[in-house]
Amino acid sequence: MSTISVVGTGYVGLVTGACFADLGNRVVCIDVDERKIAMLQAGEIPIYEPGLEELVERNVRSQRLSFTTSYAEGLTGTDFVFVAVNTPSGHAGEADMTYARSAARSIAEHLDGPAIVVNKSTMPIGTGDWVVGVLSRYGRVRAPVVSNPEFLREGSAIVDFNHPDRVVLGSDDRQAAERVAQLYASLKAPILVTDLRTAEMIKYASNAFLATKISFINEMASICERMGADVKEVARGMGLDARIGAAFLDAGVGYGGSCFPKDVQALVHMASLSGCHPQLLRAVIEINRDARRSVMLKLRAAVGDLDERVIGILGLAFKPNTDDLREAPALEIIRLLQQEGARVKAYDPAAMEKAQALLPDVSFCQDPYATASGADALVVVTEWNEFKHLDLRQIQQLMARPILVDGRNLYDPSEMKALGFEYYGIGRAAQSGELLNAGRVNGV
Ligand SMILES: NC(=O)c1ccc[n+]([C@@H]2O[C@H](COP(=O)([O-])OP(=O)(O)OC[C@H]3O[C@@H](n4cnc5c(N)ncnc54)[C@H](O)[C@@H]3O)[C@@H](O)[C@H]2O)c1
Repeated sequence: MSTISVVGTGYVGLVTGACFADLGNRVVCIDVDERKIAMLQAGEIPIYEPGLEELVERNVRSQRLSFTTSYAEGLTGTDFVFVAVNTPSGHAGEADMTYARSAARSIAEHLDGPAIVVNKSTMPIGTGDWVVGVLSRYGRVRAPVVSNPEFLREGSAIVDFNHPDRVVLGSDDRQAAERVAQLYASLKAPILVTDLRTAEMIKYASNAFLATKISFINEMASICERMGADVKEVARGMGLDARIGAAFLDAGVGYGGSCFPKDVQALVHMASLSGCHPQLLRAVIEINRDARRSVMLKLRAAVGDLDERVIGILGLAFKPNTDDLREAPALEIIRLLQQEGARVKAYDPAAMEKAQALLPDVSFCQDPYATASGADALVVVTEWNEFKHLDLRQIQQLMARPILVDGRNLYDPSEMKALGFEYYGIGRAAQSGELLNAGRVNGV
């Protein structure tokens, strides 16, 4: 059993802290957000993540997990300090290191005994070396640094923590990396030990590759639409090839969330500053932007002028099983709709509370049926399971005009047609009788 401090108690920090506690360690989670820590101390969970509430409650009850805003308290007698603060996008797409800088300085100033500092946040290549410098400049004790990038997915974070495809550990101190490896030993996952910079790069390269797969299939989707093919079948045909794989080949309104957009941008930024010319990554970003806008093309073509039209949005979170709205495609689609005068109604199973603060002019509905009621068109933006099992006949009857833009290809085009919908999927021209050359209509 080890004593672990986690600095930054957000999605990654809270899940990491709770899971390490569940493996038998004593964990203290530190955060500068007093409200968040007060909630956690009161037994409330600030984020929606399946299974997290029970996990936190169980480990708090067994006194293996606690929360504090005090670095002095949280770092006392610790063996490992995991850094899980946010590294958002800065103005030019770079990773904004304000929070990481402040955390590193606070760790240096408060560590009172030898410990290993583990960077779990996604941090630009070279950050590990920089943290080594901060610790030796402001700290009193020796603290080697290990980069341990996180690959968990919101919505299945606990399962991902407990069953990782791999654990990546980068350090110039092999012994420190091996001690961190021990923390993961019971998970029986492949452990890859590299130098610091390589570990940091593995995280960026992995996210960039997954984002590229999504943009690739979205580019195929627009070609399918114009050529009369069905991208869903194309993806199936491709994905069955073991060299390609089916994951991340779902055409739709593009990727969002707290990781892919900012990490691809940050990699482009780093690469450009180092004299590289990351054309592929730039195209990935551009295709993703176009994927969101393709919804507008379809709506304009199907509905006509959107001014005063009522558009229902199903799904706000950037993906199912989370309430995270960071870079959610729905936010941009709603903004574009409102710019054209549309009246927007929306429903999401988990993200409504957070959305209300961000979208004051949207009318929030209690369920998908209320969202469909009186709508001139309905857009599915997030592939929540709940939306796969709707009474579509009822939805069709409730709408003012039965136009459905399926931004996640959830439904079968011929069934939708049989139900009386004017149905538009993404890249499914052959099946849904898409408006061929839709791109020419009121081009964006
Ligand atoms: N969310 C994901 O799915 C995911 C997956 C893999 C990697 N990551 C990476 O992990 C990191 C954290 O992401 P997140 O989604 O958990 O972020 P988050 O915004 O949910 O949480 C970050 C937390 O850090 C706290 N914080 C900021 N500065 C601090 C400081 N100086 N001291 C203590 N606490 C501080 C914030 O108050 C916040 O609670 C990011 O680098 C992200 O790219 C995220």
